[in-house]
Amino acid sequence: MSRKFFQSMTSRRGFLAAGVGSAIATGGAAQGLAGELQKAAADPKNLPPNVPDWSKYLGESVAAAPYGKPSKFEAHVIRRDVEWLTASRESSVNFTPLHELDGIITPNGLCFERHHAGAPDVNPVEHRLMINGLVDKPLIFTMDDLKRFPRYNRIYFLECAANSGMEWRGAQLNGCQFTHGMVHNVMYTGVLLKDVLNEAGLKPKAKWLMLEGGDSSGMNRSLPLEKALKDVMLAFKMNGEALRREQGYPLRAVIPGWEGNLWVKWLRRIEVGDEPWHAREETSKYTDLLADGRSRRFTYFMDAKSVVTSPSPQSPLQYKGRNVISGLAWSGRGTITRVDVSLDGGRNWREARIDGPVLEASLTRFYVDFDWTGQDLLIQSRAHDSTGYVQPTKSELRAVRGVNSIYHNNGIQTWHVQPNGEVENVEIA
Ligand code: MTE
Ligand code: CO
Repeated sequence: MSRKFFQSMTSRRGFLAAGVGSAIATGGAAQGLAGELQKAAADPKNLPPNVPDWSKYLGESVAAAPYGKPSKFEAHVIRRDVEWLTASRESSVNFTPLHELDGIITPNGLCFERHHAGAPDVNPVEHRLMINGLVDKPLIFTMDDLKRFPRYNRIYFLECAANSGMEWRGAQLNGCQFTHGMVHNVMYTGVLLKDVLNEAGLKPKAKWLMLEGGDSSGMNRSLPLEKALKDVMLAFKMNGEALRREQGYPLRAVIPGWEGNLWVKWLRRIEVGDEPWHAREETSKYTDLLADGRSRRFTYFMDAKSVVTSPSPQSPLQYKGRNVISGLAWSGRGTITRVDVSLDGGRNWREARIDGPVLEASLTRFYVDFDWTGQDLLIQSRAHDSTGYVQPTKSELRAVRGVNSIYHNNGIQTWHVQPNGEVENVEIA
């Protein structure tokens, strides 16, 4: 490997020392040939030609699991938080285990969760959505009222603007769960905000909406009316069942392609106005500080981005010979048209094979089937979207945005695969 790269070993050690070592060790980045960490040795008595235990006895009855759970052998597939990242665990993030998932849909129990004041238990019978401000008729809806509007099903990704935010100044967190796990992709069932607003009747001066959550943070954001009338949904179901409490049960806003912070959960009020409110979450937070000290405001779109989910630090290479690289690409501005993958840190690229549905503002799955001879690899992926935009390198991004930012880091990720199969988060110098 002639190309130079650096690993921010100090910061990674800092991460280990800060008490999330178990999160990494279970993922298997830190020691040994990582495959051995993940698989317990097989008991020969359960291997052919013997008849294994589970073929000899009756299995569990249907009464055992009224609500199904994953196999006990999948108990390591869980959301994880990083304790030192936030001041409290209520106002925190639990990251999606992207390295363990495949396809494009995130299972409900594994969707990352991000709360400013913890997840409240909202009783749907007592929940109300109020619409006030520049409307002909202020209205208060029950959940049953909302479910009588025409219903739609749409698959969208939700990405927190802070996803990959810790990586602005260099490689930090050793696992795509932590570097990229503030994204999930589910099918929402709900109604169009346009239809609900129509019921209240918009005054001619209406231009902006303020969406407000029913949690104790009362989190609120300003939304341009144009977007609201285009494709915003009020969702009550995800992947066919009721929203999970963490995702805003019983009602959340779905703002396709735009930063996750706008997707107000436990949605209780929409005020119609003629200008933005400049709430906390769109002034002191969720604005992007540039190198010259000015800030970008209202950076709504999530630009095209991708990441190789396996191999990655928590999902090391276990075999020489045939291997599958699996990854995700997405764009808030349209569909993913192509994904390139490099094995040598961006010198040579090959086109990945996209498989599964390719939808607007949705995660898109890609693969590269390749033979590994045991050499060092610097794996990268690069997304292209239907607007012609190509995902930038981290240095291209920093040249425009500086290093003061937290939000909207869609730079190309590099994973260094070592000859023993372990994978580390690195940056190409
Ligand atoms: N809505 C309310 N009411 N309270 C919150 O704390 N967090 C926001 C947004 N909506 C939040 C909220 C942020 S920053 C993000 S990224 C998304 O919800 C996270 O959605 P999720 O928890 O379903 O992943
Ligand atoms: Co967020």
